[in-house]
Amino acid sequence: MRVAGAFAIALVAQLAAAQIIDEDWWKNTTIYQIYPRSFKDTNADGIGDLRGILQQIYHPDVLGIGAVWLSPIFKSPMKDFGYDISDFRDIDPIFGTMADFDALVEDCRKRGLKLVLDFVPNHSSDEHEWFIKSVAREEPYTNYYTWLDPKGFNESGSPIPPNNWLSVFGGSAWEFNEQRQQFYLHQFTVGQPDLNYRNPAVIEEMNDILRFWMDKGADGFRLDATPHLMEDQSFPDEPLSNDPEFTSDQWGYLSHIYTTDLPELYDVIYGFRDVVDQKQAELGRQMVMMVEAYTSLENTMKYYGSGDRKGAHFPFNFELITKFNNETTAAELKQIIDNWQNNLPDGAWSNWVIGNHDTSRVASRLGREFGLAAVIMGQLLPGTAITYNGEEINMEDTWISWRDTVDPPACQAGPENYQRFSRDPERTPFHWDNSTYAGFTTSDSNKPWLPVNENYKEINVRHQLYEGPKQPYWIYEKLIDLRTEIAAVQRGNLTTSTVGDNIFAFTRVLADDVLGWGLFVVVNFDYAEVTADVTSSVTLLQEGTKLFYETGTLESNYIYYQQIDPSSVTIPARGALVFRYIVTSSATSVAASCLSLLSAFLALINL
Ligand code: GLC
Repeated sequence: MRVAGAFAIALVAQLAAAQIIDEDWWKNTTIYQIYPRSFKDTNADGIGDLRGILQQIYHPDVLGIGAVWLSPIFKSPMKDFGYDISDFRDIDPIFGTMADFDALVEDCRKRGLKLVLDFVPNHSSDEHEWFIKSVAREEPYTNYYTWLDPKGFNESGSPIPPNNWLSVFGGSAWEFNEQRQQFYLHQFTVGQPDLNYRNPAVIEEMNDILRFWMDKGADGFRLDATPHLMEDQSFPDEPLSNDPEFTSDQWGYLSHIYTTDLPELYDVIYGFRDVVDQKQAELGRQMVMMVEAYTSLENTMKYYGSGDRKGAHFPFNFELITKFNNETTAAELKQIIDNWQNNLPDGAWSNWVIGNHDTSRVASRLGREFGLAAVIMGQLLPGTAITYNGEEINMEDTWISWRDTVDPPACQAGPENYQRFSRDPERTPFHWDNSTYAGFTTSDSNKPWLPVNENYKEINVRHQLYEGPKQPYWIYEKLIDLRTEIAAVQRGNLTTSTVGDNIFAFTRVLADDVLGWGLFVVVNFDYAEVTADVTSSVTLLQEGTKLFYETGTLESNYIYYQQIDPSSVTIPARGALVFRYIVTSSATSVAASCLSLLSAFLALINL
């Protein structure tokens, strides 16, 4: 009977799958962020490497992920762990060689995995050849960076910075260079001088770097820290933010109206897109360009393009990171999600990010159960889903002592305040299994560059794989399946709703003249389990139709394909449940009745 039921279900799935249009790969997939230092170490130096990625790339692949994005792997003195690049066209020896990169590209191709690289346009390393030549005023590099004379000299003869601008990581954004006798601008560490985007030669250099990596096999880029690309050329002091949370040497102390989000920067981004599109046409390979910009919703949307100029395929949607926390209510979450969707420009593709190497892990921000609810939403809301490595197994932040702290903003903040600024907790080694150092490194003498979380024996890939379906790994895998299996997850409309004060729900259904599976997700904001009538939240539900349980957070008690009456759904405390259901509409009455029959059949065999 069960086999017959599964067959019938598969039949309907087929019906739905036939509706899937072959859209650009970056639209319907999940993009998996690998933080290379922490993924897998194969040469026993305690730091992850490209061979490690190659060895373990089966992991995102078997999960059904379609693309990986690597945080920087380029030559770097590692002052900001790779975001300070001293040669944009070479691989850092810590990570391996160009041959290792080529091997990775080849393997990804074989697997059908896309490989996206990090592109860091705002700054180079102070060890980059351009900077060294710029210091020496060697042409054409003299104006590759932003150099200014001191405002004056203090009583002891020390040069005074040109203005009050602060580094994102704390302290002045200006550093005096003895040799050139001028200050240079660095919006991040002292080792990351800002490139000068008023200089067309710099733009051309960066365009060439994009071309280089696409020729090498990259399928696109994540653009780093774009709001910082340009600064006001009259270099005025920035006004105070008057935010009592920040002291005078911390970035939040000022309001960054002259150093971020300048209107001119979007043209640079659109220019990068032109370069990507040209290469795409030349190579016949669809590329993706995604932008990292922590800014207002209004500014974020500008990255999509303007008029006939195309911008990023999408700017990252950080709304579930910056606005969603344990104080958020169901109604507020509905508003956050609706607001993002409603503000998308016409034809723009959506996306959802719930974590990255700069943000406390979602399982720590929200708790393991509610964090998984966020993972579920991130995968099933409209658009591309982005996963930070470890989210698929519910990894948490690791507490790091001051002694073990290495992240520049944390070091800058000092022993009293480092925890507020540190990004080390979300960057600790990936948990593969329950062997020493969670299987991250082959070494038992060289410690990993950051400590491994003590919880690794429970929270690791191997353990979860063997423990079965109630584990985060399997829940995540099921979500990826749903993305590929159900057309409505790819192209369906989104309808959000709330039930009472504590339930947020959404459906994904194709436009109502189409027939197939609908998807229903329900999230409980209460700290207690609830049983609720959610019928009114299920769009285009036919009378009497049941919900088929697919998956849910750790505490869910339903079993796969259990039929649930929408008038009485039990949702765990801070949990989320995912169902599919048959969507019919009067416009497709003949087909609709076929499906009703099928659903009656399923009910009959009591699947
Ligand atoms: C981005 C990166 C971050 C880095 C910074 C400077 O925000 O994600 O890790 O420190 O840019 O490049």
